[in-house]
Amino acid sequence: MPRRSLALAAVAFASATALAQSDPTWVEEVPFITTPDHVTLAMLELAQVRADDHLIDLGSGDGRIVITAAKRFGASGLGLEIVPDLVAKSERHARQAGVAERAQFRVQDLFEADLSPATVVTMYLLPDVNLKLRPRLLALAPGTRIVSHDWDLGDWAPDRTVTVEVPDKAVGREKLSRLHLWQVPAPVHGQWCAGASTLQIAQTFQRFEARLEATGSVRHAWSGRIRGKALPAPVGGAVRPALTWEGEALAVAAGAAGVPAGTRFVRC
Ligand SMILES: C[S@@+](CC[C@H](N)C(=O)[O-])C[C@H]1O[C@@H](n2cnc3c(N)ncnc32)[C@H](O)[C@@H]1O
Repeated sequence: MPRRSLALAAVAFASATALAQSDPTWVEEVPFITTPDHVTLAMLELAQVRADDHLIDLGSGDGRIVITAAKRFGASGLGLEIVPDLVAKSERHARQAGVAERAQFRVQDLFEADLSPATVVTMYLLPDVNLKLRPRLLALAPGTRIVSHDWDLGDWAPDRTVTVEVPDKAVGREKLSRLHLWQVPAPVHGQWCAGASTLQIAQTFQRFEARLEATGSVRHAWSGRIRGKALPAPVGGAVRPALTWEGEALAVAAGAAGVPAGTRFVRC
């Protein structure tokens, strides 16, 4: 979002916060403002939610994101919400929608919750809250998808941003919502070895630069974008290895000169 629009939207969200202070469901950090239904659907489509996903909505309000993920996509989900009345309302809505078993809600501060079971995280919070959450989001399992309504994660650039028209949007001057998607990148920064071959990787969020010194004085240098556990080989130009993060090892999924497929690099 351009800085000026971001500032205006933040001011509008802040004025909504001021208005919301008279509301008993208002809490200190983020006010209760719902994501419209068509934007909820767009968020879930952006994350490509499937039946085998477990979605956690941070600050789940009236539960609509978790309930829609369960009803439309068959996913299981958990809504974390600090206002007890909103949790009770969410549970009622989940029962009415026939998805109470898959769509669950908990009264909990989102900063204190265990987010590790999530394969998808959704949020409609505020810029500073997003930034405070960022280290915990980056520590989630590689490949976890994160979708944020309107606010980004600072200099961790999204993998994709889409814009959805919202003619009756209650906050901001622009009658639209921006939805940002990130895939948590595998933590690959550092030095890795396989026999006499060494691989040095510099990582900034999902961007990486790799330098590989393989046996027989073969050298490769390339850069790219991490997609969850995968470090795909660049398309075109000299053949470079494609790598897959396996926790303890970086495995060569597609080989290149001096580094056959199946080579496993470990930290050294
Ligand atoms: C902007 S609303 C979004 C509601 C819902 N996710 C949606 O998109 O429709 C933010 C929600 O976060 C909740 N919230 C604020 N701070 C929280 C915290 N520390 N822990 C859990 N929930 C919180 C608020 O009560 C509110 O319901």
